[in-house]
Amino acid sequence: MSGIFPETVMQTSRLTLRPFTGGDIDDTRAACSDELTQRWLPLPRPYTREDATAWCTEVAHALRESGDGIHFAIADASNDRLMGTVGLKKTDWRARVSEVGYWVAPWARGRGIAAEATRVLGEWLLTDRAFQRMELLAATENTASQKVALRAGLHREGVLRNAGFVHAGRVDLVLFSLVPQDFQSRPPAPTDPSS
Ligand SMILES: CC(C)(COP(=O)(O)OP(=O)(O)OC[C@H]1O[C@@H](n2cnc3c(N)ncnc32)[C@H](O)[C@@H]1OP(=O)(O)O)[C@@H](O)C(=O)NCCC(=O)NCCS
Repeated sequence: MSGIFPETVMQTSRLTLRPFTGGDIDDTRAACSDELTQRWLPLPRPYTREDATAWCTEVAHALRESGDGIHFAIADASNDRLMGTVGLKKTDWRARVSEVGYWVAPWARGRGIAAEATRVLGEWLLTDRAFQRMELLAATENTASQKVALRAGLHREGVLRNAGFVHAGRVDLVLFSLVPQDFQSRPPAPTDPSS
């Protein structure tokens, strides 16, 4: 069983989640060359203008068309400048499970953008697209990413030993998830001792 996510645009008051375009090439190159991005994501090193061009105009689109997932540019809603990316990959259409990933450009960090975009994407995946689970995997030492996961409402499930790799070598990964019940959960009603 397989599928393809439809080309989609989503909007919040300050963010637009839209497909990558040729206009994002220079900002993508700068963000993917950044030291922190390169520390936690095994992107090409050095990350060239050709790499950015391929990603923005071909690879991100081809991954959606292959059924693997969907990759959004996170753009500033006021001027459409690239602020980061959030996307889905390794989609299992039979189990209806997909894995989220993100980076935020150095000029847009520290404003809660990754969590906001991850929450919007998770709601879309689990309600609109009727998926059953969105996963996030973050290196145990990547505390910023783990804060993002919790702020986006994901639940921490445990550590996968030696499961990931970055340029510096193998890493343990913390597994987080978001499931449909997370949108329905209400705090339990207080029990009335007199009843
Ligand atoms: C992880 C990442 C996406 C967070 O994005 P963000 O939108 O800046 O997230 P937040 O604004 O919620 O900040 C999260 C944490 O990042 C750190 N942070 C804040 N401002 C920062 C800045 N200017 N530069 C670097 N880190 C910063 C803080 O620890 C912050 O936590 P705090 O608010 O409790 O102090 C971003 O740091 C990034 O792109 N990192 C490199 C790629 C990466 O790790 N991707 C995830 C792989 S699993």
